Amino acid sequence: MATTITLTGAGGQIGYALLFRIAAGDMLGPDEHVRLRLLEIPQGLKAAEGAALELQDAAFELLDDVEVTDDAAVGFDGANLALLVGARPRGPGMERGDLLAANGGIFAPQGRAIAAHAASDVRVSVVGNPANTNALIAAAAADGVPAEQFSALTRLDENRARAQLAAALDAPVADIRGVTIWGNHSATQYPDISHATVAGRPAADALAERVGDVDAWLDSEFIPRVAKRGAEIIEVRGSSSVASAASATIDHVRDWVQGAEWTSAAVVSRGEYGVPEGLVSSFPVRSAGGRWQIIEGLEIDERSRTRIDASVAELIDEREAVRTLGLL
Ligand code: NAD
Ligand code: LMR
Repeated sequence: MATTITLTGAGGQIGYALLFRIAAGDMLGPDEHVRLRLLEIPQGLKAAEGAALELQDAAFELLDDVEVTDDAAVGFDGANLALLVGARPRGPGMERGDLLAANGGIFAPQGRAIAAHAASDVRVSVVGNPANTNALIAAAAADGVPAEQFSALTRLDENRARAQLAAALDAPVADIRGVTIWGNHSATQYPDISHATVAGRPAADALAERVGDVDAWLDSEFIPRVAKRGAEIIEVRGSSSVASAASATIDHVRDWVQGAEWTSAAVVSRGEYGVPEGLVSSFPVRSAGGRWQIIEGLEIDERSRTRIDASVAELIDEREAVRTLGLL
């Protein structure tokens, strides 16, 4: 048996960075064979075909088959995993929400094609921006596929937050646990360290020794740095993040499939933590048996509440905007 993985946007930047790591076993482990379906639009087919030639040349022992197509019915046929990356990236001066009109239209047809052609156990990870609302659109269009089988990527934000915290504490990233991203994958996101630990000790206590006023440091340094990191990358490298985004996608799917104690993912709310039902919002999650479970019962202080509410308000606005555009 092998896992069938559909990657949309396989001819793009993130697609190119992802494919070789998937085929090397970084996502599903060293024993799981994979079949790749590379779904592109006609303009992207040549790039995807080139990537397929290179995949062959790499002689990956776990890679059973590669198919390149611009037909969603073929692309999603029998998919156990669908990585929805194909979408336009933002440029300098844009917010991710500015992409709604350009990209939102991709996700309803793909949701319908997933419902019609993918395997019943399909798990769908949305990377293309604005990722949360694109996931909402795809899940709503995928009639008969439980909404729990959709999630959107906020793992890149979480990885950024852990790395920034590790740097501030001069600690190894591996010692940092319990960081959460709440809300939208946008500048309103809330990277939350209230429940984070460094080598088992509350991160806030360790931070107080380094930065003094922890709340001031969070408000003026940490939160804006993490929330605006995507824009910083665009400014410095001239285009949006690629390898770190691919790496976070690998982390996200690996944890979803193989299990995790604590990470962040944007999943469909059932009203947890006061987030309106149906929104695709980032939460602290664990994964067991191939399913995300929101970690419930965490204490949310007033500062956190205000920030979570602000990001959720943006998700509500995005939902309204796509309704107005007729995408939902
Ligand atoms: P890219 O322009 O290099 O590649 C996008 C590819 O998608 C292109 O090859 C294009 O032909 C293809 N595509 C467009 N519409 C498609 C469709 N309907 N079906 C299949 N393929 C389609 O862009 P990139 O740098 O790879 O980024 C892709 C997306 O990922 C962007 O929206 C970007 O903003 C987003 N992104 C998200 C995160 C995150 O953390 N969620 C991080 C980085 C980038
Ligand atoms: C990122 O966070 O790097 C991506 O979402 C790309 C972007 O537009 O910021």
